[in-house]
Amino acid sequence: MKTYLITGGAGFIGSNFIQYILKKYKDIKIINLDKLTYAGNLENLKLVEDNSYYTFIQGDICNKQLVESIFSNYDIDYVVNFAAESHVDRSILEPEVFVKTNVLGTITLLNAAKKAWELENGFKKGKKYLQVSTDEVYGSLGATGYFTETTPIDSHSPYSSSKASADLMVKAYFDTYKMPINITRCSNNYGPYQFPEKLIPLIINNCLNKKPLPVYGDGMNIRDWLYVEDHCKAIDMVINNGRLGEVYNIGGHNERTNIQIVKTIVKYIHDNVDEKVNENLIKYVEDRKGHDKRYGIDPSKIKKELGWYPETKFEDGIKMTIEWYLHNKQWMNSVTSGDYQKYYEKMYKTK
Ligand code: NAD
Ligand code: TYD
Repeated sequence: MKTYLITGGAGFIGSNFIQYILKKYKDIKIINLDKLTYAGNLENLKLVEDNSYYTFIQGDICNKQLVESIFSNYDIDYVVNFAAESHVDRSILEPEVFVKTNVLGTITLLNAAKKAWELENGFKKGKKYLQVSTDEVYGSLGATGYFTETTPIDSHSPYSSSKASADLMVKAYFDTYKMPINITRCSNNYGPYQFPEKLIPLIINNCLNKKPLPVYGDGMNIRDWLYVEDHCKAIDMVINNGRLGEVYNIGGHNERTNIQIVKTIVKYIHDNVDEKVNENLIKYVEDRKGHDKRYGIDPSKIKKELGWYPETKFEDGIKMTIEWYLHNKQWMNSVTSGDYQKYYEKMYKTK
């Protein structure tokens, strides 16, 4: 029986991942360590909270004592580090906490895992630390080409730079100590339980409330979208079969301009929910500072080595996602009941 320490499991991707592996495996144990910041929500885990193979611990990945105690109390086999400050716009407003959680938190986890797993001449067998990273560490693409695993790191935002710093520390633990690690770099995810500060849930939520739909700049920036379950499948494959020390890019060749995404959501809601929702709600606003133009992943390595491929076509995934938010209005009310309005006003008043 494998024991996973999953950090940030109350966030968007982490909670999807916990549900994914609890459904897939009958013989695993999960410890979910999450600080429950504004982005962490235990409602995301309602479906698994009574599962006897699942344990939740509220705490900070920067808390060395706490993290070490988890390694003492449980024989952790896999660490999957999702915990992070994850929103680019917030990193532009307040970079410090990104360095704290994303960089120092990562080192705290690496050190605790190393301490628990290291033997006199190597590491205990069957252990692995997986760092969940992002394609944003590669910077921005022009009109052509893709990010491969050998594309140089060229991050621009405080968010992506903190993730890049963490990746380099994880790599250092492999290069220096031969610690068993993998790094995954995925493109933009969408799906259930995503906090409505990110483009897709924000636009869905604003449509449902007939609020203006903020599009940064000319709306022509491009992101490469992947349904969250396909990301979960890839992480599971990398944990089980990824070659130690390797980086794996994850993406499904699904590039869209932001304005295409917004119009797709507007059309679906217009046609299926409320015909008063239309493109007149779109509001072009001031561009994001340092806005990366285009992301695009080359996923050949993970396809070739691990046989991964994305199962959800964007046309299906976006419908499932909008439907999920339509059926989970209570969830949306709950996650926007805290400081969300304050954030929204601060963020969008100048735009
Ligand atoms: P999220 O913001 O939805 O969730 C982050 C979770 O981490 C929250 O539950 C939060 O409470 C927790 N957390 C934050 N600081 C913490 C701390 N100091 N200690 C413990 N827990 C803490 O993020 P997400 O979108 O689910 O992203 C998860 C990971 O995947 C991140 O590392 C992110 O960089 C990476 N990633 C995200 C995307 C995407 O499109 N969302 C794409 C590629 C990679
Ligand atoms: P986001 O979901 O924040 O992800 P990331 O910045 O990590 O790629 O943003 C996706 C794209 O959508 C990005 O180009 C910025 C743009 N965007 C808007 O145009 N309006 C918005 O209100 C938000 C949140 C994002």
